[in-house]
Amino acid sequence: MDIAEEIQVLKKEKNAVILAHYYVEPEVQEIADYIGDSFYLSKIAVGLKQQTIVFCGVRFMGESAKVLNPEKTVLLPDMEADCPMAHMADEEAIQKVRKEYPDAAVVCYINSTASLKELSDVCVTSANAVKIVKALPNKQIYFIPDKNLAHYIASQVPEKEFIFNKGFCPTHERIEAKRICQAKQQHPKALVLSHPECEEEVLKLSDYIGSTSGIIQYAAESPNEEFIICTEKGVRYKLEKNNPGKKFYFPEPVPVCPNMKKITLEKVLHVLKTGENEVEVEERLRIGSKKPLERMLDLAAK
Ligand code: 13P
Ligand code: SF4
Repeated sequence: MDIAEEIQVLKKEKNAVILAHYYVEPEVQEIADYIGDSFYLSKIAVGLKQQTIVFCGVRFMGESAKVLNPEKTVLLPDMEADCPMAHMADEEAIQKVRKEYPDAAVVCYINSTASLKELSDVCVTSANAVKIVKALPNKQIYFIPDKNLAHYIASQVPEKEFIFNKGFCPTHERIEAKRICQAKQQHPKALVLSHPECEEEVLKLSDYIGSTSGIIQYAAESPNEEFIICTEKGVRYKLEKNNPGKKFYFPEPVPVCPNMKKITLEKVLHVLKTGENEVEVEERLRIGSKKPLERMLDLAAK
């Protein structure tokens, strides 16, 4: 039996289900029951019949799954797989903004710790942020942690006033506009599809801006044959699988999230075997951080 087969056998024995983000390695996506972007994975995690969720992604994803499903066991293949952006907001700064702008809504990108979520009014993902911010009754929005996503939403919702934070995704921030220009020169027929965690200069050069699922859907529906993809290289697996014959180029240096790449088949097998790396969220924090996550799921469904 190879390792992937061993995982399948053990998964059934342990009544477990495997969720994977598009940024993990292809062989990990292969063994997953559900693959998706952050929004899809947070929705799907609610109401699964299996008792154990093995979350192939970074820590905030497993944490959100646990917060929404306290009765389940959530296992992370690697506890060190942590999104640096999830920590790039300051609890004191939030309190300060709340004092200065009492009518502002604190909107928290799901790429954040449970402690930051607890202090927020609502969570969003890149797939639903524009819709949710538009639907909020508040005119002023303090958006944490991602400045790039915040600026993108602000451009789409000009009727609201934004207070910006300084967080960013190191993987997307590394994508340079000049590299996109070079790629466009090499592939003049290619459309540029970008994640909103990219800098404004990159987004300005883009034909489509959306979450990883949005990018995958756009590439499938477009009659175009060539695309320059401005997000993490893990999406290549799904893009090529869904679109044989279409060509996908990545800007140099190819964007890689080192934390997502910490998830390996060996580690998935290990946590299934041992039950190690269980995500725990202290009850008071769980209740506090559940509210903004549930509000996101409610507003996104409307
Ligand atoms: P989405 O899953 O919302 O596309 O976000 C990408 C990301 O950076 C996840 O960490
Ligand atoms: Fe965090 Fe960026 Fe990696 Fe996503 S790609 S997990 S935002 S560091």
